[in-house]
Amino acid sequence: MANSRRDKSDSYTLRAHKEGYPARSVYKLEEINASHHLIKPGDRVLDVGAAPGSWTLFVHRALIKGQGKIVSCDLNPLRLDPVPPTVVEITGDAFSKEIRARLVEEGPYDCIISDAAPMTTGNRTVDTTRSEYLAENVVALAAEQLAVHGNLVLKIFQGGGQEAVLKTMRGMFTKAKAFKPKACRDDSFEIYLIGLDKKA
Ligand SMILES: C[S@@+](CC[C@H](N)C(=O)[O-])C[C@H]1O[C@@H](n2cnc3c(N)ncnc32)[C@H](O)[C@@H]1O
Repeated sequence: MANSRRDKSDSYTLRAHKEGYPARSVYKLEEINASHHLIKPGDRVLDVGAAPGSWTLFVHRALIKGQGKIVSCDLNPLRLDPVPPTVVEITGDAFSKEIRARLVEEGPYDCIISDAAPMTTGNRTVDTTRSEYLAENVVALAAEQLAVHGNLVLKIFQGGGQEAVLKTMRGMFTKAKAFKPKACRDDSFEIYLIGLDKKA
């Protein structure tokens, strides 16, 4: 009998390969943006946890359509050849003092997208706690560097802290909600928190 999870992951992976994206994660952002209209041509976008670069490439090609700017930050370099001309690549820990200062220098942003995830250990408590740490830091960066009316999407592993992060986002945005794209693997415990229309 066919393995539906594997079939699904294979179809997304094959499609990504065919369309020139380095990772299947691109279809999560495609789905999130199709239903929430986060990014428009000309926007200044910050992509946190950007490597290997599928979200960045999708934003360049399909959302800002070559107009605007994407600041793409990751611990690892992007695997895009060539790196699109709209992209400013910053390699390092987004929340270290030095790299955060560079992100601030490039800001403010109309949209912040974060697919950042910790290296998983298999220990659900450890992994969830590390994911919460990243999510809280992304929200703090958005509080400072996201323009009024700007949008935010961030990944978090489902667990105790998700509601607290969402609560903070509800105070910052006109609308904030959790969303699980169909392109997430069936066995994944990740979810995306979306904040729309940052309040003044
Ligand atoms: C799931 S991958 C992102 C995939 C990417 N959205 C794409 O479409 O190609 C998660 C990334 O988060 C990055 N990451 C984790 N912690 C980070 C941090 N503190 N600063 C920057 N990047 C981080 C990892 O290095 C990893 O490349």
